[in-house]
Amino acid sequence: MDLIPEPAPNVRQLLAFYLEAGVDCALTEGPVDRLTEPDTAAAPIAVRETAPPRPVREMPAAMPAVPRSEIAPEAAIALAREAARTAPTLEALRTLLESFEGCALRNTATRLVFADGNPQARIMFVGEAPGRDEDIEGLPFVGRSGKLLDRMIAAIGLDRSKAYIANVIPWRPPGNRTPTPQETQICLPFIQRQIELVNPDILVTLGNPSTQTLLSTRDGIMKTRGRWFDYDTGTRTIRAMATFHPAYLLRSPSYKRMSWQDLRTIAKALEQSGSPSS
Ligand code: URA
Repeated sequence: MDLIPEPAPNVRQLLAFYLEAGVDCALTEGPVDRLTEPDTAAAPIAVRETAPPRPVREMPAAMPAVPRSEIAPEAAIALAREAARTAPTLEALRTLLESFEGCALRNTATRLVFADGNPQARIMFVGEAPGRDEDIEGLPFVGRSGKLLDRMIAAIGLDRSKAYIANVIPWRPPGNRTPTPQETQICLPFIQRQIELVNPDILVTLGNPSTQTLLSTRDGIMKTRGRWFDYDTGTRTIRAMATFHPAYLLRSPSYKRMSWQDLRTIAKALEQSGSPSS
């Protein structure tokens, strides 16, 4: 039997393949053939000692200088704590983050995604990290899951002008990969300070990563959702509730019913402690 060779994919098909695999941004202007790079790890020690230094790979002009990603994680966490602690206002915090060099995610993100909504709001929603649409627009939750978040907020009788929205991580991880624990720890002091400065009556964590990070629990979202937690902002204790991440609800719509129950509980709590529209 003659085997008919598959036709070679064209550029459009290749790009679609990469996009599906999560490869949607270029890190350098040209391809890097890592197989032809000198493999110093495999070389015998005697050769390694006398080998010439590795050539510095050229960075594209838009890429920020390298040293910031070389800050050791412990030092970066300490820097972040110190910087966040000293920010007196949300604007100062945003400015600090814009120049913060301790998190390498800023090197691959297009821009900082700080927050959206009303800083005077009584309710604050926190997600995990920006995706592609958020990275382009510079605002959290503007893509498909953002549209669903808007409907979740509407279910409480509010809209973005009466809610405040942010993420634990303010830069998009490349290809939407999961942030590393180190990246999360480096960004944590900033979101903690952001919560303290917004000082909402109710904090809503969206999905597992944000819930586990902010509410210091290792339990999964099935266990944590719909329960009240105490969140210590540093200046007072506020009520916090976890619910499903809208992206998860898009994939598993059968959980929307539970999520809407959580939102009703949140709406009642807002009503009991003041006007939901203030
Ligand atoms: N998912 C998040 O966690 N945050 C966003 O801003 C968008 C999608």
